[in-house]
Amino acid sequence: EDDILAKLPLKGKKLLLTAGPTYEAIDPVRFIGNHSSGKMGFAIAKTAANLGAEVYLVSGPSHQIIKHSLVHRIDVTSAQDMYDACHKYFANVDIAILSAAVADYRPKNVATQKIKKKDASLIIELEPTKDILKSLGEIKKNQLLVGFALETNDEVSNAQKKIEKKNLDLIVLNSLRDKGAGFARDTNKITIIDSDFKEKSFPLKSKKEVAKDIIDEIIQKLSH
Ligand code: CTP
Ligand code: CA
Repeated sequence: EDDILAKLPLKGKKLLLTAGPTYEAIDPVRFIGNHSSGKMGFAIAKTAANLGAEVYLVSGPSHQIIKHSLVHRIDVTSAQDMYDACHKYFANVDIAILSAAVADYRPKNVATQKIKKKDASLIIELEPTKDILKSLGEIKKNQLLVGFALETNDEVSNAQKKIEKKNLDLIVLNSLRDKGAGFARDTNKITIIDSDFKEKSFPLKSKKEVAKDIIDEIIQKLSH
C-alpha cells in the first residue's frame, strides 16, 4: 500500500488540465489565435498520468500527441468551448491546472461569409472572452486550483494579483526574460508562487523537467 503511493502518488486523483491556444473566429476561414504550442500542458498531462492521475486534458488546436490510458483528451477550438468543457469536468476533479493561452478577446460579430477585401482599412470590434480560471476560482470547493501567468514586467507582483483575483492555490509564473523560455520552445523558466505569496524559483529546464517540478509542488500541497 505504502509502496504504491510512493510510486503512484496521484493514484485515485482526477486532474483537469487546459493546454494550447484558442482560436476565435472572424469569419468562416479566419481566426485570431496565438503561438502557444501546447507543449507545456501536454508535458504536465504525461507526468501526472505516469504518477497515477486520471487526466482530463482540454486542448485548444495543437499538434501535440499523447497516448496514455489515463489521459482523456477533449479537443476544443474557442475560449467559449474551453469554458464549457472545463465546467463540465471541474466539479468531479481534485486538481485543475489551467495552462492554456486563452484569447482575452474575440470578434464581437462573426461574419457568416468570407469577408471580401476592400480599398479601405478594416476594423474588427472585439469583446472580452470569459475568464475560465477566474470562473473556476469562484465555484471551487476542495479542488486545488493552479494557474499560469505570462508577464513581461512587474512579474511577481502581477502574478500575486492573479492569485487573489482568481482565488488560486498556486500560480506558475513563466519568465519571458530568458531567451530559451516560452512559446514553442522546449525549455521554460518558472517561479511557483502560493497563496501565502511564498516563492520558489527554478532554473531554465526542459518542459518535461518543469512539468515534474510543477507536479511535485502540487503533491506537496495535497499532502498538507
Ligand atoms: N485564463 C483563462 N481564461 C481566460 C484568460 C486566461 O482561464 N479567458 C487563464 C490562463 O490559462 C492562465 C491564467 O488565466 O492560467 C492567466 O492568464 P494570463 O493571460 O497570464 O492572465 P490574464 O488574466 O488573461 O491577464 P493579462 O493577459 O491581462 O495579463
Ligand atoms: Ca491573457
